Amino acid sequence: MALTSFRLAGLELKNRVLVASGTYGYGDDCLETADPGKLGGIITKSLSLKPRIGNPPVRIAETAGGMLNSIGLANIGVHRFLSEKLPFLRSVDTAVIANIAASTIEEYCEVLRILEGEDGIDGFEINVSCPNVREGGLIFGTDCAAVAEITRRLRALTKKPLLVKLTPNVTRIGEFARAVEAEGGDAVSVMNTLIGMAIDIKTRKPVLSTVTGGLSGPAIKPVALAKVYEAARAVRIPVIGIGGITNASDALEFLIAGATAVQVGTANFIDPAAGIKVAEGIARYCDENGIPDVADLVGSLDAGSGTSVLDSWL
Ligand code: SIN
Repeated sequence: MALTSFRLAGLELKNRVLVASGTYGYGDDCLETADPGKLGGIITKSLSLKPRIGNPPVRIAETAGGMLNSIGLANIGVHRFLSEKLPFLRSVDTAVIANIAASTIEEYCEVLRILEGEDGIDGFEINVSCPNVREGGLIFGTDCAAVAEITRRLRALTKKPLLVKLTPNVTRIGEFARAVEAEGGDAVSVMNTLIGMAIDIKTRKPVLSTVTGGLSGPAIKPVALAKVYEAARAVRIPVIGIGGITNASDALEFLIAGATAVQVGTANFIDPAAGIKVAEGIARYCDENGIPDVADLVGSLDAGSGTSVLDSWL
């Protein structure tokens, strides 16, 4: 049997498949159909200091091969998370990474401080990439200096794994990954959603209340793969690949492109066991191909004499 476990910034994960923030609730939503203990980790819904009701409806729309969302970081807030959700998460035999969203750098720090001492929180993923809010989100995520500053401030507050979730809505994601690495971040999650929109041609109105939203799902996989490829060549810290992964073959592409691990997102809405099936499929592929350790796949792309336009950006 191939070795599937690995260490992410000192944290032992049983496999390289995590479920993405915002697609698996707080871990308890999917319990009846899938055992979250079989996952490498659960990344919680984004947590803010105070509860947020999010954006008005319509805030979800289906598109060809994908989903547009404009949830607006709706969540129960960090204090209710601690009393209502963390006890269950503690009972699950998997790593729990708390995703943090904020409107100000101070709020990021405050939420992390509140969570830092809590048993059952194994690490943090910092959301600087939500495309659906006016404050925080992309204001930070498209500004390399702000991403660096947030990483630096949060690094000083925790020794637990610190991941920063980057937006693809920039020209050179490698520069943002480098900023995170330079300020002590342990890993980057690449990528959050692409800004997109849909229009109702009968009314000529936008489908989403916020006009634009974030596109996810299979439609974005080729973009995500290229962003992971770019980021993985720009930094030495792990790149966690995310974007349109629905099955093990998709995940294997990300690992081969340079991702150390992957996150399954939108596919969870179709099948809450998608992440578990992806993890099982990766292990099966290794066994069938005589690969002793999933690590052997990471960055194993054989580009031959092919060169990418991205190479000139590195
Ligand atoms: C949202 O809550 O609007 C989506 C979260 C995100 O894209 O980070």
